[in-house]
Amino acid sequence: MAETATSDNAKLVAAGEQLELRRALGPFHLIALGIGAIIGAGIFVITGHAAQEYAGPGIVISFVIAGVGCVFAGLCYAEFAAMIPVAGSAYTYTYATMGRFMAWVIGWDLMLEYLAAGGAVSAGWSGYFVALMKDFGITVPAALSSAPVDIGPDGGLIFTGAVMNVPAIALIAFITTLLIVGVRSSATFNGIMVIIKLSIVILVILFGLPLIKAANLTPFIPPHTDGWHFGWWGILRASGVIFFAYIGFDAVSVAAHEAKNPQRDMPIAILGSLLICTILYILMSLTVTGLAHYSTLGVPHPVSFAIANAGPQIAWLEPYVNVAAVVGLGTVVLVLLYGQSRIFYAMATDRLLPQMFAHVHPMFRTPWRSSLLTGVFAALLGGVLPLSILGELVSIGTLAAFVLVSIGILVLRYTRPNVRRPFRTPFVPLVPILSVLVCGAMMYFLPNDTWYRLIAWFAIGLVIYFFYGARHTATPIWTLTDEPPK
Ligand code: ALA
Repeated sequence: MAETATSDNAKLVAAGEQLELRRALGPFHLIALGIGAIIGAGIFVITGHAAQEYAGPGIVISFVIAGVGCVFAGLCYAEFAAMIPVAGSAYTYTYATMGRFMAWVIGWDLMLEYLAAGGAVSAGWSGYFVALMKDFGITVPAALSSAPVDIGPDGGLIFTGAVMNVPAIALIAFITTLLIVGVRSSATFNGIMVIIKLSIVILVILFGLPLIKAANLTPFIPPHTDGWHFGWWGILRASGVIFFAYIGFDAVSVAAHEAKNPQRDMPIAILGSLLICTILYILMSLTVTGLAHYSTLGVPHPVSFAIANAGPQIAWLEPYVNVAAVVGLGTVVLVLLYGQSRIFYAMATDRLLPQMFAHVHPMFRTPWRSSLLTGVFAALLGGVLPLSILGELVSIGTLAAFVLVSIGILVLRYTRPNVRRPFRTPFVPLVPILSVLVCGAMMYFLPNDTWYRLIAWFAIGLVIYFFYGARHTATPIWTLTDEPPK
């Protein structure tokens, strides 16, 4: 297998060097890119829903479980990201280790992750946008700001009577335009947004934590009711659901193609952004469930709701939370759509998708067709489906990608032991195995319907592969270099 992958990739070497894209991103840009993608609708919206439905204040434990899985997966990602510093993230890594077919599988899976996440976060953004407009005395009708489709009481899909989530679609249109115009300007813009978002998360924690009420946190793990609701089962289910909140650190590796010094900066950016976010999530979820009883948190804007519920001392903070969420969730959509367009680009370059999507705009130097296609699909998803459906789909798709990447680390250590690894995952095979186990378990905790949707997505992907990808060949844009003999 190693031989095939190597000869397949042989010409690719200089992908990094022949890049038509600019190498413009330094370590701060990359960490900002990570945090920009990570902190978003997961902590700002899904936390409230998962606490209300599954875990109560025990959601804090769910964040610890999901965070542990991410650290294991992040350590595996970092080895790959430093070793293969070109666009495409887990897709590229899989091509290196397991060949073209598996690369398609993972690329298709990542499309689900990024496209559905772009749609999901834009739907979450819409909830805070509506709350912010209300602060200004403007009421946005629910029919124009929510999904026409939702999950009914029996678990099936129902029509809500809403027309379409217009704010979600408008956001995606705006961000797609930014991405087409150029990565440099949008990454700088992202940096400013990230500072605003981090400031508000820290303010909520600093001012909210002293006001939390013990009564809201008691019992910390509400007694199990039925199925996956409350008790430890609820905490486990919630860990799969809020896993969505951690997605994004892998978006850093998607940008390796455009990093100035990917070998050094990829691991720093992935692990650094993950660590910062894990600590903030634990504190933030404790604050939110401590300020308002978990049974009240199933609203479209749970963080500002909890602040408003905490009493007059911190009422001043509520509009700022709405502003920061609008800005912050917008940043997440930016990073996710950026990541998706680069995955499209990498797959088109490898002729797993039509090559027209690998075209780089002569003036903007961006893969503009990939960005446009990404924007159209993400807008469709965000405009029509609710955050709950999209969020769980994203969680399961991403967990699947992490499982494959962790297996990839094991495969490559065995098949290419001497390849140059600027960053080595520690304690191999333990860490990749733990990553597979923890991420696999979180997949298992997710609802059956989410599994069916994942299976349907893969079935569609297989059909496309056999009709297109399998009938074309290409030399991938990178290769692996062995260490010189000592
Ligand atoms: N982690 C990102 C969010 O929570 C996808 O919005």
